[in-house]
Amino acid sequence: MNHFGYRGGWLFAEDVALSAIAREVGTPFYCYSTATMTRHFTVFRDAFGINDALICFAVKANPNLAVLRVLGDCGAGADVVSQGEMIRALTAGIPANRIVFSGVGKSRQEMEAALNAGIYQFNVESEAELEALSQVAVSMNLVAPVALRINPDVDAGTHKNISTGKAENKFGIAWARAEPTFALAATLPGINVKGIDVHIGSQITDLTPFEMAFSKVADLVRDLREKGHTIERLDLGGGLGIPYAADEKAPPLPDAYAKMIRRLTDGLNVRLVFEPGRMITGNAGVLVTQVLYTKQAESKTFAIVDAAMNDLMRPALYDAWHEILPLKEAGPGISRTAIDVVGPVCESTDVFATDRPLPPLEEGDALAFLSAGAYGAAQASEYNSRPLVPEVMVDGDRFAVIRSRPSYEEMMAREALPSWLRPKLTVAGGTDSENGGAA
Ligand code: LLP
Repeated sequence: MNHFGYRGGWLFAEDVALSAIAREVGTPFYCYSTATMTRHFTVFRDAFGINDALICFAVKANPNLAVLRVLGDCGAGADVVSQGEMIRALTAGIPANRIVFSGVGKSRQEMEAALNAGIYQFNVESEAELEALSQVAVSMNLVAPVALRINPDVDAGTHKNISTGKAENKFGIAWARAEPTFALAATLPGINVKGIDVHIGSQITDLTPFEMAFSKVADLVRDLREKGHTIERLDLGGGLGIPYAADEKAPPLPDAYAKMIRRLTDGLNVRLVFEPGRMITGNAGVLVTQVLYTKQAESKTFAIVDAAMNDLMRPALYDAWHEILPLKEAGPGISRTAIDVVGPVCESTDVFATDRPLPPLEEGDALAFLSAGAYGAAQASEYNSRPLVPEVMVDGDRFAVIRSRPSYEEMMAREALPSWLRPKLTVAGGTDSENGGAA
């Protein structure tokens, strides 16, 4: 469920018409619904009910400080994969004791910063990383709280570019190396092993792969305890999928996911940790764009919009399907034709939708790409020197820009000429006000 819908013929985010935001901010822009992300977080949290699960939002899905503040205020922790994400979580007010640090390649500097901050847990993915973390901790007279990420060799049944739990993936410690790595950890002075971590992939729409992975991990908890290891936490990662299309099979609800986990972990007496990302913010965000031109090719109709693959990478990277809705509702009598919705970037993969049944489109018509609140703005770039898309947050009947569109002056100011090239630069060819999108 989300808080985007038509009212009086116009698409709203909560109580704000997206067209009103478009007039003020210009297109393209991302827009997030506070009520939707809050609801998704609380539904996930409440599904686990009585126990004291720690729910760490996967910051990579949406690192905006305002988003992190909203979720932190609901009690969320943060799953971070870089010092930058950790700084974001702390800056947004998420306490260090609710932060877990994941990722296959933490640098020693990142380890030091996280130890200084006093985070809840490092999710360690190799023996080499374990030894490095121990050395860094010892040099600081500290002991690092650790969960070892194990690769359960389970097929998540999702797109190959977002699968992480197969033996051939770079993630986690190989299943056969799990016990030797726990044994190694027990000998390292800077390491205090707290538990096991597992994450098998993203946009998983069936409980079976989760169940296969989690039951292997539950067995591992018992085996390791028999060998004398203390396992007090189980971090089960993220990955629960969301609906992108109304007519697809609905992914399992958090309740069913939680029930399966309770069944598998009953009696294990562990604190559960989760790292959901997409599930919390995916359907809480849209990308609003407008049609620049339409073009009739020999066998196709193109709508060229002012958003592009640099703003929303998912279709180009994962063949992702995003619902497209016109901001002005098409009446029931309006016929639809197959349209390719494409961006202006000079790449053949800059295609948002192929042969999508849409009402007739004209220059200036605004459209929303739905389910863009996770891995949308987060993965945007300035490719083709296109300014990063601004982000807007709605809460009831109010909205605010939570990341502004950079000016061209700001974009140029990050670069410099070496001294031998007449180093003074003057920004030419356009003013800030011309960079406000098509307001
Ligand atoms: N924990 C770890 C260690 C992860 O690597 C990820 C996602 C998550 C948690 C959160 O997974 P989620 O609950 O969001 O599925 N850019 C891709 C998705 C990449 C996911 C990377 N890791 C996309 O747009 O589909």
